[in-house]
This record gives sequence, structure tokens and C-alpha cells, in this order.
Amino acid sequence: MFSSILTLVTFLSFTVGQNLVLIGGNLRDDNTKVWNKMVQLAGGKGVARIGVISISIRNTIEGDRVIENFAKVYGAKAVGIPVSQSGANDPVVANLVKEQTGIFIVEDSEDKSWNFWNWVTSLVRPTDVSAEPPAGMVCYESASYKRQQLIDTLRPSGQDSLVLAAIKTVLNKGGMVAGNAAFMSKGAVILEGDSISALVSGTRFISFPRMPYSIRKEGGLALLNSDYVIESHLSEKGREVRLMRTLLESDISRGFGVDENTALVVNNPLSKPVGQVITAPLAVTGVLFFDVSDIPTPSITNALYENVTFSFFTVDDVFDFTSESVTYPTWKKAIAGQEWFKNAVPSNDILSRAGPSQWRQTARRLIDCKELNVTSYSPSSIVPMIPGVQVIFDRQRAVGFGADLPGDPNNTYVASFQRMVASVKVLGIL
Ligand SMILES: *[C@@H]1O[C@H](CO)[C@@H](O)[C@H](O)[C@H]1NC(C)=O
Ligand SMILES: *[C@@H]1O[C@H](CO)[C@@H](O)[C@H](O)[C@H]1NC(C)=O
Ligand SMILES: *[C@@H]1O[C@H](CO)[C@@H](O)[C@H](O)[C@H]1NC(C)=O
Repeated sequence: MFSSILTLVTFLSFTVGQNLVLIGGNLRDDNTKVWNKMVQLAGGKGVARIGVISISIRNTIEGDRVIENFAKVYGAKAVGIPVSQSGANDPVVANLVKEQTGIFIVEDSEDKSWNFWNWVTSLVRPTDVSAEPPAGMVCYESASYKRQQLIDTLRPSGQDSLVLAAIKTVLNKGGMVAGNAAFMSKGAVILEGDSISALVSGTRFISFPRMPYSIRKEGGLALLNSDYVIESHLSEKGREVRLMRTLLESDISRGFGVDENTALVVNNPLSKPVGQVITAPLAVTGVLFFDVSDIPTPSITNALYENVTFSFFTVDDVFDFTSESVTYPTWKKAIAGQEWFKNAVPSNDILSRAGPSQWRQTARRLIDCKELNVTSYSPSSIVPMIPGVQVIFDRQRAVGFGADLPGDPNNTYVASFQRMVASVKVLGIL
């Protein structure tokens, strides 16, 4: 009784209301903008009580890091809420979730126990084995079965478990929910594979992809109630084409991908979502939106994606999911007619998985130069057998906004744009 009165009082004392923080992966401990934003949206220092959910019997390494960072660095109370298979429908666990003003969902769950079958699987699919988590960050990439395990536990067969329903209650009461963007969608969730394997698997192009491409068509946690496929680690791991393929594969025309150490903070995610891009201080990262509705139909089998519209939004841009309109902060100015560079600079490894964010960099240069298009390539190889790929960007219909980052002694220019067009084509082996 007393505790429910207390909860009510706490909730009335802040009215920021319903925010979903979609993290683009590899969120660094020292990203003050994103961590402070999460604490603020959960009620602020001294008020925020954040439940850190891991799918496991006890707190995971990532869970412990999140708790420690919230508590020691950012002044929020944080408590671990381990959720086992059966715990997902345990009213006691669900009530503990409801008592929080914020929830952070951790993807890195418990490792598979050692048995013969798991051992054989790990030999056949070495990418599906957990690696040592990188230091100083959370929402790092873990084995793909963990993403499946998370969704299967919290939303088995597309039905909300008691714990997921409780998480939605926290949102509806005006709280904050955060986690890796990639499992939050209502639509298909990407599990594995890089852009090249996504482009060529199941097509007439023979290839031996390094990581097989796979998706979960039944969708994710559905905490964003809008038909989008969502990706994380977008620019840094060159996942643009993997996102495109998933859109075509799952009959969803729109998707977006959040860059590493960046977040899209979505207000009213369950009713009228409006997202704002939050980055690390002085970062040029952002969120890329795709629309594949203009692609001609037989494109998957021919690995040919023409006329894919894409937009890129950077720090402080606000995107309204309902009207699909964007509002730029006043410090950014229209680029049209003021392009700084003469030439575009093509990339010779446009789908690189290892950075430095070739797609983002090439598009950013094109929007701020006098040329209208740029043709980039991805190299082919024989061992392993990988075909070459051509990617053309065209900015004829694009509208760009940009400015030097405020407060940056190096005057780094940050650019956003809408409606650039990409065409992707496989060239064959050598
Ligand atoms: C791409 O879009 C443009 C303009 O909408 C159109 O003229 C062109 O035919 C399209 N190309 C393909 C291959 O659909
Ligand atoms: C690229 O733009 C130039 C003009 O700057 C034009 O002549 C050329 O046809 C365009 N190429 C493509 C592939 O659209
Ligand atoms: C400015 O650029 C220099 C040289 O590239 C770099 O060492 C420094 O960290 C930059 N400063 C900021 C604030 O990013």
C-alpha cells in the first residue's frame, strides 16, 4: 500500500512522458549525452529508479556494467532484474518491473551451457559463439542466439509475457525504456549476416558468405508501434544493404539504422512516435532511414536494388514517424547552393564491415559538393568467393542541412539530408 502511494507520488513529480531510447550499439560508458538523457527521462538524478533486465538466472556482465554506470557515474538508482524463461510470466518479477521509473533491456544473456550439441554448433557456426565483451561499453554485439533468446522469452509467439506487459506499463506511466535498437521493432528483426551475404544469399550469384544472413520475421519486442525494421551498428559495420534486403524480404517498406554510440530517443513510441537523434559530444554519427517502396519487384533474385531512397539525420534532428517529416535545429542551414567541395569522393570498399563508415562518409561528401552523383564499389574476391558490387548515390532530389558542430574547436561540419537515392548492383566474380 505505502509503496504504491510512493510510486504514484514519484510519477506525478515528473511529466516527461513515455520515451523509448533506441541505442545503436557499442554505447560507451562516457557518452554523457545519452546516459544523462536516459536518467533525465526516468525522472532525473535522485528520482530515477532503473531496472536492468537480463534474460538469465543472475545478472550478466553487461547488466552489471549498466547498473554500475547508472549508479556510480550518472546518479540513478539501478537494480538488476534477471528474468529466466519462467520468470517472464512471474507476477512477482512483473511487479518489480512496474515499480521502476526506467527500464534498460540488456541483450547479452547467459551463455549456452556446455553440451555435445552446443559444442558441434559452435564449430559449424563460429560466429555464433560469445566473444569477450569489449571494455568500456554496453549494447555490444553478442552471439545471435542471445537476441533470439531475449525475444522468445519476453514475447513468445508474438504474445507479450507478463514482464513485457509490465515494461509497457512503465512506458505508459511516463517512464523510460532503453536497449539495443535492433530488437525493439514490431516488424522483422535481423539476426545475422553482413551486407554482402544479405545481398547475394538465395540469388543467382554464387558466393560463400562469411556469415549466413538470417532474420526473424515474427518481429521483436514491438516497443515501437510503427512498421519499421530497425538496425544497430549501422554505419560502422556497413549494414546498409543488409537492412535493405530485410525490408524487401519482410514486405516492410521502411527501416532505419542507428549508428554506434548514438541513440534515437522516441517520444510516444506506442502511439505517435517522434524521434530525436542524440550523439556523443562532437560526433557526426546519426540515424539512416530507408524507403524501398520505389524498388522494381524482381530485385531480390537479381541482387539488384534500384531507386532506394535514403535520408540521414544527425545530432538534434527530430523525425516525426506519423507525418514522416523532419525538423532540423536552427543552427543547421540549408546546403543547397552553398556546397563546400568541388568533387564527390567514391569509396572502393563501400560496404566495409570494419569502417570507417564508408557509406556515411561518401553520402556526406556528396551532399556537400558540386557533383550530383557518385559511383562506389565493393571489391570482389575468389577465396572466399565474393562478387564485386557497385553502389551509385544520386542527390538530384536530395535536400541537405548542415553546420559546424557548435562548441567544436576543430569546426567539424555535420550534415543531414533527405531523399538521396541509392542503386545497388552485383557485378559478378572478377
Ligand atoms: C527510378 O526513379 C526514377 C524517378 O522516380 C524513375 O524515373 C526511374 O525509372 C526509376 N528507375 C527504376 C529502375 O525503376
Ligand atoms: C551523374 O551526373 C552527371 C552530371 O553531373 C550526369 O551527366 C550523369 O549522367 C550522372 N550519372 C548517373 C549514373 O546518373
Ligand atoms: C581536434 O583535432 C585534433 C587533430 O586531429 C585532435 O587531436 C583533437 O582531439 C581534436 N579535438 C576535438 C575536441 O575533437
